[in-house]
Amino acid sequence: MIGKRLGDQLVTAKLGRGGMGAVYRTLDVRTNTPMAIKVLADSLSTDPQLLKRFELEQEIVARLEHPRIVRGQGGVRCVDGTYFFLMEYVAGSNLSVVLRALGRLTPAEAVRVGLQTCEALAFAHAQGVVHRDLKPSNLLIDAAADVHVTDFGLAKVAELTRLTLTGQVLGTPEYMSPEQAEGRPTEERTDLYSFGVTLFEMVAGRLPFHADNPLAVLRKHVEEAPPPPSRFAPDVPPSLEAAILRCLEKDPTRRFEGAAALGEALRTALPPRPTGSPPEDPRVRILELVAAQSMKDTLPYVTAPDTHLPSNEPSAKPPPSPRRPSGLRVGLALLFALAVAAAVVRTVLAPASRGRAPDPVSDAPASAPESAAGQQPEEGEPPEDSPPVEPRTAEVTLANGQKFTAKVLTLDGEGLTVRKEDGSEATWPIEEVRSFKYLRERSR
Ligand SMILES: Nc1ncnc2c1ncn2[C@@H]1O[C@H](COP(=O)(O)OP(=O)(O)OP(=O)(O)O)[C@@H](O)[C@H]1O
Ligand SMILES: [Mg+2]
Repeated sequence: MIGKRLGDQLVTAKLGRGGMGAVYRTLDVRTNTPMAIKVLADSLSTDPQLLKRFELEQEIVARLEHPRIVRGQGGVRCVDGTYFFLMEYVAGSNLSVVLRALGRLTPAEAVRVGLQTCEALAFAHAQGVVHRDLKPSNLLIDAAADVHVTDFGLAKVAELTRLTLTGQVLGTPEYMSPEQAEGRPTEERTDLYSFGVTLFEMVAGRLPFHADNPLAVLRKHVEEAPPPPSRFAPDVPPSLEAAILRCLEKDPTRRFEGAAALGEALRTALPPRPTGSPPEDPRVRILELVAAQSMKDTLPYVTAPDTHLPSNEPSAKPPPSPRRPSGLRVGLALLFALAVAAAVVRTVLAPASRGRAPDPVSDAPASAPESAAGQQPEEGEPPEDSPPVEPRTAEVTLANGQKFTAKVLTLDGEGLTVRKEDGSEATWPIEEVRSFKYLRERSR
């Protein structure tokens, strides 16, 4: 898929895979902007009725314009048999990755994420759109540590799939409400339950219900009272705990009446700071983590080899054209600036994070042994792990059928620039490149 053109979209990296298909970063070659596409799994795209439902749902969701909601761009598209929909690309991470790295969030961090998510939910609910699959991986976190909720409405179609196709359970049982577990109608407060599970996980560093199979988890959602989060995180303030447990009520009418009411409860959930103690900035650790991950994982257009291909010598020399500005260098500069910005924020706000009482879970060295946030550079120092960026070898096929291998220097809206084996560099406009595939390096 990497290197493929889907209409205006040039696929540049795989971002991950979920229940409905895979998500890729693309470059919109018309506007020269990074975008994201979700490519529908075959099981979804081969049923015309389901596709129609997807189409309708995506058109509704694409009308949700809110800074805390990932913007969709129209309905389902099909190019060369590939069904996908286009959305805004959020450079950064998602809450699931953040939680894996940090173990758990401090109450102030969780409240900030919670308030932003409530804004998105209140807006979508007011437009009659229920998410139905809220969970940490659907809360994208950008480079300013702000939340963007994604995958609105998809679960509605997934429910249909579940009814019409194989009968397998779609969705994530750990975050499902009792009404979803029992196949009863869903409504706005269904999202509050799933978000309650997410809030629980943020502050406690674990889920409220564990079991060794999905059905047993679903049964617990229906039958078992959740433990208080403070059992796992003694620093959770009582009013935050009460708000989380209210979200987790089995009966939807006993939950908050809406996302705005939950937001109000979260706004007052933190106890007042003792006078003289510096405020904790709830962005700092997340900013650092996202910046460090951006440096490591999401270098523009430098992707893992997609397929194993035999090395191929050029069949003919393609015509060189003048060098163009390097998108890769610009991307790296941006990422470096991001990391520096995070370091600056940390420096400016350092007394806040240093002044925080040691957190028994997230401050323990064992809680995030491999997390980027655990390897913070000294203040003022550039990040230690600036990536070694070595051009990778790719097999390139031009629109005129010529095929050759070369080191890819940049690939952006302006074109593909490579270094050939004789050391010379050449660039082709994107329109003249049919595809390229990275080759597995022999000694890496
Ligand atoms: N618009 C986007 N911008 C940047 N990254 C995205 C975007 N949408 C999804 N991702 C990333 O792509 C990956 C896969 O997302 P996907 O939604 O397919 O999986 P999921 O959320 O784990 O499962 P589910 O299918 O249940 O939603 C996630 O890591 C997510 O962070
Ligand atoms: Mg998702």
